[in-house]
Amino acid sequence: MPGSVVLIGPPRAMSRFYVTTPIYYVNDVPHLGTAYTTIVTDAVRRYHLLRGDETRMLTGTDEHGQKLEREALERGVPTAQFVREMSDRFEATWPKLEVQPSDFVRTTQARHESRVQDLWRIIEARGDLELGTYEGWYCVGCEEFKTEKDLLPGNLCPLHKTAVEQQKGETYFFKLAKYQQPLLDYYLAHPGFIEPESRRNEVVSFVSGGLKDLSVSRTNFTWGIPVPGNPKHVMYVWFDALANYWSVLQGDGDLEKFWTDATIVHFVGKDILRFHAVYWPAFLMSAGLPLPTKIFAHGFLTYGGQKMSKSLRNAVDPIGIAQAFGRVAGSDAAGADVVRYQLLRAIAFGQDGDFDLAAMVDRYNADLGKNLGNLLARTLGLCVKMTGGKVPAVGPTTPLEQDLLDAAGRELETAMHFWDTLAPHRALEDTLALCTAANVYVDRAAPWAEAKKGNTARVETILGTLLQVLECVSVIVWPVLPKKSDEMRAQLGLLPLVPKIGEDLWPRGLKPRAAGESLAPGSPLFPTIDEDGARALLVALTPATATATPTPTSTSTPTATATPTSTSITYDQFGTIDLRVGLIRTCERVPKKDKLLKLTVDLGEPEPRTIVAGLALSFQPEHLVGKKVIVVANLAPREFGKGLVSHGMLLATGPSEKLTLATVEGDVAPGAKLK
Ligand code: MSP
Repeated sequence: MPGSVVLIGPPRAMSRFYVTTPIYYVNDVPHLGTAYTTIVTDAVRRYHLLRGDETRMLTGTDEHGQKLEREALERGVPTAQFVREMSDRFEATWPKLEVQPSDFVRTTQARHESRVQDLWRIIEARGDLELGTYEGWYCVGCEEFKTEKDLLPGNLCPLHKTAVEQQKGETYFFKLAKYQQPLLDYYLAHPGFIEPESRRNEVVSFVSGGLKDLSVSRTNFTWGIPVPGNPKHVMYVWFDALANYWSVLQGDGDLEKFWTDATIVHFVGKDILRFHAVYWPAFLMSAGLPLPTKIFAHGFLTYGGQKMSKSLRNAVDPIGIAQAFGRVAGSDAAGADVVRYQLLRAIAFGQDGDFDLAAMVDRYNADLGKNLGNLLARTLGLCVKMTGGKVPAVGPTTPLEQDLLDAAGRELETAMHFWDTLAPHRALEDTLALCTAANVYVDRAAPWAEAKKGNTARVETILGTLLQVLECVSVIVWPVLPKKSDEMRAQLGLLPLVPKIGEDLWPRGLKPRAAGESLAPGSPLFPTIDEDGARALLVALTPATATATPTPTSTSTPTATATPTSTSITYDQFGTIDLRVGLIRTCERVPKKDKLLKLTVDLGEPEPRTIVAGLALSFQPEHLVGKKVIVVANLAPREFGKGLVSHGMLLATGPSEKLTLATVEGDVAPGAKLK
């Protein structure tokens, strides 16, 4: 057909693609940070579905370990019940973000536990497990031993900002040191095993620095998988957790299909790369099992410059954001598409990216509303006026069409390349570049002017060409915007995409369509948000989804916390603020800072905390010693220069020269939690 080039990709040999998210600790709730990993994984999996691969996506929850045992105890809930309830929240959340995993693993499932015990036995039979004793600084939040040089002043974990604990006891050691050279050889022989390259270099340098044998069992708690033959020990939570990727492959031939004969990609945050790129391959080498194809470490979604997480109290609820955008874009599912787009487009995959609601609104308007959405609306609007709402015939083309065909070929090819090389942000850039090229084309081809001249054939060629571009766009946005792809296709008079194994649906150019087929224009795909709408969205979302101000404006000036607000917060949001009783042990003035006092406050932790507070105009230091005050215990540390760092905030009221401290009477132990 004139004016079209052939567009279906060459037949592709079917390949298998197995992609995983980390399994999430259930002390946290799903938030935008964990949603980020999960959405990327789902989008990459959908891309492979489009390409005709046989795919599998795994996500799930990590439910053992000391952290979870303690958290359940603190909440007064039986541990099994606690982890189940929390896991259910994860399982229920992902489909609301249009994530469709093939399987959801819980590490407390019998199917997982028995396979991990098998793995233990295999590794033990290799002679790689040995009984000994360990001793060291342990961060329960990371579930990892830390060396002293890793720690912040006050023995704080740099990630969790909480005190590490000295732990010791009998343990099985995995002979990790033995795998130092095999790992280095493997990294050298498989340059794509760890990505991005900068992260790979970090791992290589860590392993080159020497590996110590790894403690892989514990006797100081019981919430874990019993060690075969020595049930006094439970397995170290990371030994148990890493095995999930392999343990779930129990269906008919699944292990052969998806562990020995598939491309296996583990997406992980940069915080847990070492576990995946060092320990996991060493366990697999020991067990004589194949290694995954790639470990890709992405960056953090930050808020106010800090990693988003419940323990840092700056988590944002992804469903809240999806619902808010859904109210504009037509449905909760449409809102989920918007969140997916925002996360994938805004963050260069592999790097950190800061959550910024105002930027999200701008990007929504510019990319989805004015570019993609407008291209569909204006093309269909013109078809209604000029071709009776039917697909027109494409006749002879001009250089204008040729430019667009060239641009389409280029953008489709590069977008595909960027999906293949795990750069979804770049793939979306090219997707949107194709929409821009088509919008420019409409302006240049000016079908309205041709219609005025009575040049029907030309009008039909222009609109027919645009419909072909839109069809391509509806395919290539599918990994990220599955709902909007369906909607777009319905308006274009096309059926929703149903990927099939062995059938490559990725377009390489524009595809001809039979003239006369009916179009079905509908509401705008992405109605733009005006200034009032944007303001309303920001007001509605900021307090309701962000569980705390990102960077506290002051950890030292008590009155700075008393920002009056009439917006209510949920119980869960309140629950994220860690209020504790603190006993003031010492207090002194800070030289050259007439408003500040430096206190050491006992929170029942191994060491009292240093807190710097703007109390000096109201109190004599010696009058505060011995008082029991209320401390916001989970604010990020704040620097005051010259090595002075504050690790919390005291609550008070009144003007700064006449403050009253919130204190606690009676027999309450330092560290008691306020609820
Ligand atoms: N349970 C372990 C993983 C075991 S995998 C065998 C764990 N869980 S976690 O819930 O703490 O974090 C898991 C992952 O969640 C991180 O590595 C990262 O992929 C993702 N993220 C958590 N917070 C995130 C951000 N703020 N930003 C980006 N990713 C986030 O570690």
